[in-house]
Amino acid sequence: MMKKITNKTVATKTVSSIFFMLSLLSLGACGGAATTATETLPTGVAADGLTVYTANCTTCHGAGGTSQSGVDLASESTASIQSAVRSGPGSMTAYSTTQITSQQLADIIAYLATL
Ligand code: HEC
Repeated sequence: MMKKITNKTVATKTVSSIFFMLSLLSLGACGGAATTATETLPTGVAADGLTVYTANCTTCHGAGGTSQSGVDLASESTASIQSAVRSGPGSMTAYSTTQITSQQLADIIAYLATL
């Protein structure tokens, strides 16, 4: 009798951990990396980029883009800015395409090129 109950418990635990792992997998598929791989940027508008940059990036990077030691945003490539914004390296925030749209990201990149 006791043995039967134990087996049932083990089976239930196995099934729920499989569901847990599946939900982790689907979360991963929706993450920043998948977005970056397929995201094609439109033409950016530097003047609009200043607004988006000031609202999202100035806190950490400063108006001139040099407030993080070792990082000078004016000299970063398009690919590196895109990848940083979508994936959030180190302690940086990661931004989804609903937080910063492809157009807004292109605008930031165009703005940084003017620094
Ligand atoms: C919460 C603070 C924070 C915010 C907000 C932030 N960053 Fe960063 N950013 C960092 C830090 C810290 C690093 C260095 C990360 C590391 O350790 O490599 C960094 C690195 C970068 C890099 C360099 C990545 C590399 O691989 O060299 C780029 C480009 C960048 N940020 C762009 C942006 C842009 C554009 C925004 C606004 C959309 C932004 N960041 C907002 C903190 C921030």
